[in-house]
Amino acid sequence: MSAQTIDGKAIAAEVRGEVAARADALRSQGVVPGLATILVGDDPASAVYVRAKRKACAQAGIAARDHDIEADISEAKLLELVDGLNRDPAIHGILVQLPLPGHIDEARVVEAVRPDKDADGFHPANLGRLLSGNPLVVPATPGGIQQLLIRSGFAISGAEVVVVGRSNIVGKPLAALLMQKTLGANATVTVCHTGTADIAGHTRRAEILIAAVGRAHAITGDMVAPGAVVIDVGVNRTETGLTGDVDFEGASQVAAAITPVPGGVGPMTIAQLLHNTVDLAYRSSE
Ligand code: GUN
Repeated sequence: MSAQTIDGKAIAAEVRGEVAARADALRSQGVVPGLATILVGDDPASAVYVRAKRKACAQAGIAARDHDIEADISEAKLLELVDGLNRDPAIHGILVQLPLPGHIDEARVVEAVRPDKDADGFHPANLGRLLSGNPLVVPATPGGIQQLLIRSGFAISGAEVVVVGRSNIVGKPLAALLMQKTLGANATVTVCHTGTADIAGHTRRAEILIAAVGRAHAITGDMVAPGAVVIDVGVNRTETGLTGDVDFEGASQVAAAITPVPGGVGPMTIAQLLHNTVDLAYRSSE
């Protein structure tokens, strides 16, 4: 079998078009959706992501307020900046790009963002709402993956979903999202991690396999069930260029469908961030 490649770029373009139309409607009511992005330090990967997010904002009619901060900023100063944005009525969403430099307590900064301006959905209040089935903001990568599956026509309800990776940004919120008793969810979700005894034993049972490991080619073809849908969240920089967490060639021999890296989950994460920002702007104007 040679798997169908899921075109994340095309599906993200569709979502971005919808978001731009909603942003237009808001602007005609006198509200310009505003997203503040904070990039601390000079991590090259983070700089690339934030640049892409800012560019996408402009294309969707969202005013991006860019804050590029020196790596040695104190935690107190960073919290001050967040506090100012929390109070600024022109700002509807705040994004602090992670990871932050080691001297800053990441959790403290994430918790400083007002939950109703939390464009990433990382605040514990928003994660708690997601878990309890009443989300305000869904984290961008999990939300983007859900949209990718829905819009590609893959049934999530009743499916065996296996997520490899338990990060706060992807694995945990994704499991919470896909297990909810709602449309576009209602899956049986297993989360594998470094403490899992036999990861391949789980992944081979997956109808939908989602790799968010952070290690190039951690998922090989022999770990994939015939006919599975494989979603690759990984972005790993190797000597041969960007590559995902899945061995694309090997997995393509057995899977029914697979996302490429780049061009799969990445564009969907950005589209979902724009969606979250316009959603928060709508709520603030209600
Ligand atoms: N670092 C890696 N992914 C993300 C993301 O989705 N949002 C933020 N803020 N930082 C990240």
